[in-house]
Amino acid sequence: MNIIVCKDYDDMSKKAADLVISNMVEKPQIKLGLATGSTPIGLYQNLIKASDEGEISFRYARSVNLDEYVGIDPTNDQSYQYFMNENLFNHVKFDEGATKLPHAPEADEKYCKEYDAYLDEFGQRDIQILGIGPNGHLAFNEPSDKLNRRTSIVKLSEETIEANSRFFESREDVPKYAISMGMADVFNAKTLILLASGKNKHEAVKRLIEEDTIYPGLPASFLTLHPNAYVFVDEDAYRG
Ligand code: GLP
Repeated sequence: MNIIVCKDYDDMSKKAADLVISNMVEKPQIKLGLATGSTPIGLYQNLIKASDEGEISFRYARSVNLDEYVGIDPTNDQSYQYFMNENLFNHVKFDEGATKLPHAPEADEKYCKEYDAYLDEFGQRDIQILGIGPNGHLAFNEPSDKLNRRTSIVKLSEETIEANSRFFESREDVPKYAISMGMADVFNAKTLILLASGKNKHEAVKRLIEEDTIYPGLPASFLTLHPNAYVFVDEDAYRG
């Protein structure tokens, strides 16, 4: 696992984007795994800039996303689909149908099977971008005594509801369930890029870097098994 300590959020976003950009230049038909949350926004802004300046093109790229809330319409401004549109898709030129997020109008396993089938057809990603929850979750794979290998409907932990409530009017408005890619698919990428910024991520980052064990209580710990994982952290997340 390569740990890259960056000066601040902007530096982290730029360094991580440079890695994505160099991969896109090398392989225009790149398969991307994308993430939501506030952390990757700066990275996406750098990709948009590179696309505007003609350094990269999304014309032949395809993408899949990690997760989505259950029961939220894609047009709802709290949905991850809306987030991706606002922060990336509306600003670069992906081909029609080249991007995909999981979608579950209700908590039914059939939507998980559908997404698994899509991921199987999509195949291994070149790059998977990841954030990390303050509790060490990846996508919506919450700390637990066991983790799902494939897509599942997840009951969000109280800690995640609390952390994500900042995007909603009240805590009660945060959906209780999400549909999330499972751990086997999260790691099915040639390169993993995890981003962590801010003091509230310090505890999770510290555990990820310092603990020499892997366990489902810290989903991010499985990153240490991947042969090509990069962890970009800013000073606040690294030192607390
Ligand atoms: C959500 C997402 C995760 C994301 C995490 C961190 O719960 N499901 O994929 O990594 O939040 O979000 P943020 O970057 O806003 O701290």
